[in-house]
Amino acid sequence: MKDASANANAKRLAGEAAADLVKNGMVVGLGTGSTVAWTIKRLGERINGEELEFLGVPTSFQAESLAIASGVSLTTLNVHPILDLAIDGADQVDANLFVIKGGGAAHTREKVVACSARRFVIVADESKHVEKLTWPVPVEVLPFALRLVERKLRNLGGEPVLRLGKMKDGPVITDNGNFVVDANFGTIEDPEELMALLCRIPGVLEHGIFDNLDELYLAREDGVERIKRT
Ligand code: 5RP
Repeated sequence: MKDASANANAKRLAGEAAADLVKNGMVVGLGTGSTVAWTIKRLGERINGEELEFLGVPTSFQAESLAIASGVSLTTLNVHPILDLAIDGADQVDANLFVIKGGGAAHTREKVVACSARRFVIVADESKHVEKLTWPVPVEVLPFALRLVERKLRNLGGEPVLRLGKMKDGPVITDNGNFVVDANFGTIEDPEELMALLCRIPGVLEHGIFDNLDELYLAREDGVERIKRT
C-alpha cells in the first residue's frame, strides 16, 4: 500500500467513519488505496465485534487481499450486478464533486463498481478537496494503442507520462493487463467536456475522472465533514 504520509491519521478518520454506512445484508463495493483500506479494516472489526454480515465486491487485487484478510465475504458483479453502496478513496475532489481517481492504477474497475452502486461515497483527507481539479488524469491504455493515445492526449492539451513501476523496470501493468498514462492538463476548467473527449480516444480503456459521487467523507482536523451532492 502506498502510504506513509503526513495525512495518514486523517485518512484513517475518514476511512473508519464511512464503515458505519455498511448495514447487515448489504452488498458493498470496496475501493483501493490507503484511505479506504481503513474502511475495510474497520469493517473486519465490525464483522468480529458486531456480527455484521455483508458481501464485498473488491476493485483490485489489493482490495481483495485486504478484504479476505479482514474476514469480509466476497461476491462478484456477475452474481450481484447492483450494489447497495460503494466506498472508495480519491486523488482529488473539486467543488462540484468531480473526482480524479487512479493513483493506484485501479480506476477502471473502481468506476465499474462505483457505477454499479446505488450510492457512491468517497473517503479522503482535506488535502484532496480543491476548488478545481489539477491532478494528472490517470488513463488506462491498451498497450497496443499507447503511441496513438499519447498523441491524442497531446492534441487535447495534455502532457502524457507513461507510469513506470517502482521495483520493476518498465511500465506499471494494471490488474487488467494494461498500461497507465498520467495526463497532465494543468487546471481542468471543464471536467465534463474532458471526460467526453477522453472517451473518444481509441485504445483508452477508462480515464480517472468520475462524475457520480454522492457523498464525500472529508477528514478535517476537528472531525469528518460529510458533503452531499445537492
Ligand atoms: C486507486 C485510487 C485511490 O483511491 C486513490 O489513489 C487514493 O489513494 P489513497 O487513499 O492511498 O491516497 O484511485 O486507483
